[in-house]
Amino acid sequence: MARALARGWGEPVLCSDAGSGRAAALVDELGGEALPSNLAVADRVDLVILCHKPAGLEAVANEISGTAKAVASVLGATPTAVLQSAYPGTPVFRMMPNTAVEVRRGVVCYTPGSQPDPDPTLEADVVALFGRLGRVVSIDERQMDAATAVMGVGPAYQALLAEAQVDAAVRHGLAPMLAAELVAETMGGTAALLAARGYDTLAVRREVTSPGGSTARGLAALERAGIRAAFQDAIDAVVLGAGR
Ligand SMILES: NC(=O)c1ccc[n+]([C@@H]2O[C@H](COP(=O)([O-])OP(=O)(O)OC[C@H]3O[C@@H](n4cnc5c(N)ncnc54)[C@H](OP(=O)(O)O)[C@@H]3O)[C@@H](O)[C@H]2O)c1
Repeated sequence: MARALARGWGEPVLCSDAGSGRAAALVDELGGEALPSNLAVADRVDLVILCHKPAGLEAVANEISGTAKAVASVLGATPTAVLQSAYPGTPVFRMMPNTAVEVRRGVVCYTPGSQPDPDPTLEADVVALFGRLGRVVSIDERQMDAATAVMGVGPAYQALLAEAQVDAAVRHGLAPMLAAELVAETMGGTAALLAARGYDTLAVRREVTSPGGSTARGLAALERAGIRAAFQDAIDAVVLGAGR
């Protein structure tokens, strides 16, 4: 996620890792400095962006809490109150991006005004920073797990949907790259169409579906295969497993 964010911003980075060398690889790509410790990063920047796994919160906070001037966290299933207790007295911002930030078509959910003593200028700066990476949507913190289940993991769902269609088209004679291009461009175009229709999914679906026609037959096959139940199970698995 750190790499996707950094590529989206497209600027030199000050970063650290747990020893894999991925921070140095990012610096090779974007410029900046891979620093020897989290503390060295926290000391040099106005905003630390936490991109480690949720289980690392305490260990990283033990290193940099008190030095970090402000913290934005992309940690899944880690509420603002938990972040705040790890970073007492430091402004913390809970952001939930998806990997499409890399191409500045991301979605970033965040909970506004969750600071005990909010700094509106700092919050506006953080929102503007993430706004360079796509659409920032403010939501109630109680909705964050459900939001993550659709937008945070969403690129994986969309990629799987694309892959399944590509494989099926290949069985009917399309070359894989051609099929993938057709499917991916159709996904992008459909997303734009949905936005133009006020996100009315039924309207877009009805426009394509002539009574008794081929789209109706294809959709009926998807319904018989249980596509809605499959997505319900997937989203339940993410929401109910949040925090594990
Ligand atoms: N992947 C997504 O699509 C996505 C979407 C939204 C939010 N998130 C959140 O983003 C976070 C990272 O997920 P990911 O998929 O990017 O995981 P990841 O590929 O495992 O990357 C985690 C990175 O954190 C570094 N790290 C771990 N412990 C550290 C420490 N103590 N000090 C400094 N760096 C440390 C790791 O360093 P090494 O390279 O040295 O191991 C690694 O580069 C998670 O909290 C996740 O919930 C992910």
